[in-house]
Amino acid sequence: MIRARIIGCGAFLPDNVVTNDDLAAKVDTSDEWIRERTGIRQRYIALPGEKTSDLALGAARAALTDAGIDAGELDMIICATTTPDESFPATATIVQSRLGMGHGAAFDVQAVCSGFIYGLAVADSMIRTGAARTILLIGAETMSRLLDWNDRTTCVLFGDGAGAVVLQAHDGLGDNSDQGVLNTRLFSDGRLHDMLYTDGGVSSTQTVGKLRMHGKEVFKHAVTNIAAAIQASLDAAGLTVEDIDWFVPHQANQRILDGTARKLGIDPGRVISTVAQHGNTSAASVPLALCTAVREGRIKRGDLVLLEAMGGGFTWGAALLRW
Ligand code: ACO
Repeated sequence: MIRARIIGCGAFLPDNVVTNDDLAAKVDTSDEWIRERTGIRQRYIALPGEKTSDLALGAARAALTDAGIDAGELDMIICATTTPDESFPATATIVQSRLGMGHGAAFDVQAVCSGFIYGLAVADSMIRTGAARTILLIGAETMSRLLDWNDRTTCVLFGDGAGAVVLQAHDGLGDNSDQGVLNTRLFSDGRLHDMLYTDGGVSSTQTVGKLRMHGKEVFKHAVTNIAAAIQASLDAAGLTVEDIDWFVPHQANQRILDGTARKLGIDPGRVISTVAQHGNTSAASVPLALCTAVREGRIKRGDLVLLEAMGGGFTWGAALLRW
């Protein structure tokens, strides 16, 4: 059986660190409120003129270097983003061009904060069906461009950044001992649109709009949906939470991470958390957290890793892989 194995990962953050105190100087908030409600201490915000493709390219180059391959060996680039440089063409094609790559295929995936999990499901399917052998998957966002900086209930939560992985086809036995993606589970419920959305768009207002959110409702759904996605992935593999070495959640809010861990009986010591440093970077958050944990030597070759995310739509999902 063909398996999609992650052979390299990389991350990229803008230079500009914005602390909670920096925000408190501009909006009616405080470091204490943000830390207590979210766990966030700082976030990275792209400088004027710095685009999603700039962050995506930085992460892509780091992932290719880590994998020890160059862009010539890629068959496909998938970029998960909600904040593309332009309405079209896809940000993935801009990265393709800047990597000097004129072959293969490049396209974006839009599933907001679940984008990386959705992109991973697409990449895994492409590799397992033989449509591609080597894929660069990026999660990249400049969420700062979608924020209403006068709305303290949302602007303190998000940050900018990018993470990327290189996936490659390898032969496996078809059981849980294989290295690579073991399963992915995707879900959405479009009826919950009004919980988290932008109040504009190309075909409605001809603007990009600003992010709007019902925080309490999102919180409730997040814990329930993420727990269900994790359980679906575990069930598909015939595993339990005790079998998983590392959980790499979407970094929305420390309280969501803690609530989900409590609900499923997960040891908090096995949950990777980077929300304090990065804030919520939407589709970039899972690969940023994954790469951070790999760099720090926590996730090692052979470990069982469960990724999960939830975002606007709502969309949510999980992916089980052996590193
Ligand atoms: N600073 C200071 N006070 C604030 C701030 C702020 N930044 N934001 C809101 N407040 C005030 C409110 O005005 C309110 O004041 P009031 O009681 O005088 O009316 C008070 O704090 C409490 O507000 P709540 O909205 O009840 O606060 P809550 O405890 O629900 O926390 C939060 C808000 C952090 C947004 C929480 O609901 C949450 O984490 N929701 C999940 C949202 C999320 O993570 N979204 C990310 C996108 S989706 C995803 O990635 C899964």
